[in-house]
Amino acid sequence: MAEQKENLQMEKIVSLCKRRGFVFQSSEIYGGINGFWDYGPLGAELKRNVKELWWNTMTRSRDDVAGLEATIIMSPEIWKASGHVNTFADLMRECPLTKKRVRADQVEPQSGTVIRYSGAYSRKQSEGSTEDEKKYSRLFDEFAPALKSEESIQKLFENNVSEAEVKNIGGLIPDGKLDFLRKATAAAFAKKVFQPFSILLQQGKPMESARKIATQYYTENGCSDPILLGEHVDKVENSVDFHPESGIELSSARPFNLMFKTYVGPVESEDNVAYLRPETAQAIFAQFKNVLETSRQRVPFGIAQVGKAFRNEVTPRNFTFRSREFEQMELEFFIKPDEVIDTIHGRVATISENPQSAIRNPQSNWGWQAWHQYWVEERVRFYEGIGLSREMLGFHIQTKEELAHYARACTDILFKFPFSKKDENGNVKGDELEGIAARSDFDLSQHQRFSGKPMGVFDEELRAAWAKLPKEKQDVLWKRYYDHRKNYLTKSAKPDETPEQISQQATDDANGLAKGQYIPHVIEPSAGVDRLILALITNAYSEVTKTDDKGKSETTVVMKFHPRVAPVKAGVFPLLKNKPELVAKAQSVYELLRPHLKAVYDDGGSIGKRYARQDEAGTPFCVTIDFDTLGEKPELLDTVTIRYRDDGRQERLKISELLDFLLSKVR
Ligand code: GAP
Repeated sequence: MAEQKENLQMEKIVSLCKRRGFVFQSSEIYGGINGFWDYGPLGAELKRNVKELWWNTMTRSRDDVAGLEATIIMSPEIWKASGHVNTFADLMRECPLTKKRVRADQVEPQSGTVIRYSGAYSRKQSEGSTEDEKKYSRLFDEFAPALKSEESIQKLFENNVSEAEVKNIGGLIPDGKLDFLRKATAAAFAKKVFQPFSILLQQGKPMESARKIATQYYTENGCSDPILLGEHVDKVENSVDFHPESGIELSSARPFNLMFKTYVGPVESEDNVAYLRPETAQAIFAQFKNVLETSRQRVPFGIAQVGKAFRNEVTPRNFTFRSREFEQMELEFFIKPDEVIDTIHGRVATISENPQSAIRNPQSNWGWQAWHQYWVEERVRFYEGIGLSREMLGFHIQTKEELAHYARACTDILFKFPFSKKDENGNVKGDELEGIAARSDFDLSQHQRFSGKPMGVFDEELRAAWAKLPKEKQDVLWKRYYDHRKNYLTKSAKPDETPEQISQQATDDANGLAKGQYIPHVIEPSAGVDRLILALITNAYSEVTKTDDKGKSETTVVMKFHPRVAPVKAGVFPLLKNKPELVAKAQSVYELLRPHLKAVYDDGGSIGKRYARQDEAGTPFCVTIDFDTLGEKPELLDTVTIRYRDDGRQERLKISELLDFLLSKVR
């Protein structure tokens, strides 16, 4: 029941998105393309606002983050180094008839009656050419369906079954016909299509419908005019083995790489393969040295990028939540390894020493844990600042088993979407908006190894501090750094790398500390633009029902966007459109605002209708120019009425103060 309500809520939101021009299905006039979405006029403004706010928060308002705008297609070597070519895959299962795939971990449990077939063989193909073969074949046609399983036919074929047994298996074999049947089996068996096939019978459908689909399946798999074998009926309870649409039993799980492949240049050969980037992060690592040198930043510092990413998702779902083309806003924040912090500062400040109030002010002795917590808090504050309250957010702290082998921690910030599922205690936890990962020095190390270009940095402070450390402390820190590097190098070793080479490399890396050299570690807050847009839309959606004097009630939609993200900040209306003085004044107010913020001018219909239109678009303020603006009441000359979307409150404001008022609300 609750789920139905949530689905209805999503249906209403999807319909509003289309009706008001927030989100359209991509290529809609051609029937759409699954997993791709376009943003209409209001959606485009909303998206632009979100990206700009992120960019301003993460780069312009900080001294320690620089920006990057890299290409979507990069050297395929990048994706080998990052691990995407080998491991960026979802385990998925396929419907053997429709070829539709589902993620192995996302198959909805189903219960009901299953019709199973042990296989089929082709009547036509097994006809044979000689008179004898034809006779055997006809006989086989007659009796084969009664043979219960592939195993029983196999046994017969292998000739190690008695006539009595066969009678028992088939129940229908006439006396003295076993030899014929054996020969017929042999003839038919050569053409067999014996893979089993099962289908969940749809409610209210007859057995015949299952037979029809099984026949279609075997026919499409090269078995012309199939005779179905070993039909039997089974019951399943909460099974995750059947395709949610076709009801057909799924193949076993196989990895499926999510990167979109293309070719660079006119020749479609393996040498020219390239990929559409599946994340924006890797360009940041690949350009780390260039940014470091040109921005004159020093660790700790970050590089931020906003841009398109592409993943050939097996099951795009929940509107824009899981799409195949989407945008990311990613920051790679490079920090010193804990061994370096310890060398320089004599200790590493950790979370317990950084209560919530202190976590806002980065300290030079912070280790990776404090930085990780800092970025989780920063990101939550960002979401709060655009209207997503903490109550609507959730957290998932990845377990050891969930973490990538190189990651030290990952906290996902979740949002409670209408489609988010309840846990066993009936609480909605939410679905991922953003992941904040502590990725150690894995990424830069990988690019150093694959490109052969050094990705480490030199730190004079480290070199000087190391020289002053007592030998025992040097030994402890050296060993810790060595162990970490050896662990990484062992897990990421190429097949031709020997344990001796790995130990030597780890030794060289640890010896680098004394020379002031290290590879930075990274904290990665990685957010999806489209998921955030969907969160903002579902969060803003509200319905208001009003009843008029005659008892007629009407429900309207109010999109309660935070003014910072609202696609349109102000609607400007003349009270009447047939009064040139009102129109001219309203136009002048509109012209005053539009260079500074997104405003719309609307003179169509009653003021009530115009308010309702802007409420649906989520416009937080409406400005009306009336006769008092023109001086009908002299004390109100050059004032306007400003109406607040969320509570309908109205107040009078001087035109000369209007822009500052609006800017103070929307920035
Ligand atoms: N560089 C790390 C990275 O890409 P991720 O968890 O795979 O990590 C980060 O993606 C964010 O990108 C997610 O939290 C989500 O907001 C967004 N995202 C990932 N896949 C998406 C998809 N198929 N559709 C929409 N957004 C997606």
